[in-house]
Amino acid sequence: MSQRSALNAQRSSRQNKKTILLTGCAGFIGSNLLDKLLSERHTVIGVDDFNDYYSPSQKRANIAQHLNNKNFKLIETDINNLTIEQFNNETIDAIIHLAARAGVRASIQQPLLYEKVNVGGTLKMLELTKDLKAKHFIFGSSSSVYGNDTSVPFKENAPCDQPISPYAATKRAAELLCCTYHKLYKIPVTILRFFTVYGPRNRPDMAAFKFMDSIAKGKPIETYGVGTSRDYTFVNDIVNGIMASLNLSKPKFNIINLGNSSPVLLREFIAAIESTVGKKAILRSKPLPPSDVNATYADITGAITLLRWKPKINLETGLQQLWEWYALQNFK
Ligand SMILES: NC(=O)c1ccc[n+]([C@@H]2O[C@H](COP(=O)([O-])OP(=O)(O)OC[C@H]3O[C@@H](n4cnc5c(N)ncnc54)[C@H](O)[C@@H]3O)[C@@H](O)[C@H]2O)c1
Repeated sequence: MSQRSALNAQRSSRQNKKTILLTGCAGFIGSNLLDKLLSERHTVIGVDDFNDYYSPSQKRANIAQHLNNKNFKLIETDINNLTIEQFNNETIDAIIHLAARAGVRASIQQPLLYEKVNVGGTLKMLELTKDLKAKHFIFGSSSSVYGNDTSVPFKENAPCDQPISPYAATKRAAELLCCTYHKLYKIPVTILRFFTVYGPRNRPDMAAFKFMDSIAKGKPIETYGVGTSRDYTFVNDIVNGIMASLNLSKPKFNIINLGNSSPVLLREFIAAIESTVGKKAILRSKPLPPSDVNATYADITGAITLLRWKPKINLETGLQQLWEWYALQNFK
């Protein structure tokens, strides 16, 4: 390589490095994304409040290996307390907003908290996007916005006006605020609707973790709604979808499903975990809570066209990776 082309290659690789403000950086999806961003040598300002919705020490362990990375700075605070001064005139290329209260059933117990974090917190992040003149706002939304009245496979242009849990309603409200800020301030916005994510560092309140944990320990598992199905999506696929959004050359306003597009019935899901763990589940059947949808199933035409994204990891491989991570932990 000539000296000039080496210099050009160096310059272009530097130009592709971004400064990202990532909220929820210590959580399940956030910490997996943080690994990827730092491995690609982007600079990340991570925000997390390490709340006790689930074990804060699990969240701390998720990001422990990055605390001495010079490209990573952690701001430990509630997103609602962030101020522009904390960013010292930093040029932020993109804000990836994943911090949220994320439990569908838990949102019924604490609807006001869910509203404060998921709606108020997103509004706060949109204000910061405007004030910091960040060039792209990427929002982690959810398939739950489709409710029970959307026909499958879910398409992004469905009305999504009948959410059945406070969580889903807060996510939809936050999406609408994203739309408003795009219209008012021309902020480029990409809304990603994630479909039941699973994998290493899984949130412990989610079925993949709970079932695996109980089967491994020989404890009974409560199953809600035998006929339900979910479009389980492996966390690395989700991370790749977020990275593809970050690399969009001219983002405007897009809503994009990130799902496996291959729904699995609850009993098939349990059978797959039984086969990964090598043990039979003890089942206790319960009625489906009113907050839980019957089915999720992503139409991913948008992701394929706009992001050139397709999920790569099938359920068997993904569960094996979750199991390998699980086996290294010390879950009591
Ligand atoms: N996991 C899924 O299947 C799934 C599906 C659809 C959408 N989502 C969305 O993806 C995002 C990440 O979900 P996750 O599964 O990684 O959840 P998670 O709970 O593991 O991660 C969220 C992180 O945000 C932090 N956080 C919460 N409230 C905060 C606040 N007020 N200030 C600062 N930090 C705060 C938490 O401490 C946590 O580390 C969420 O927005 C969630 O709604 C997740």
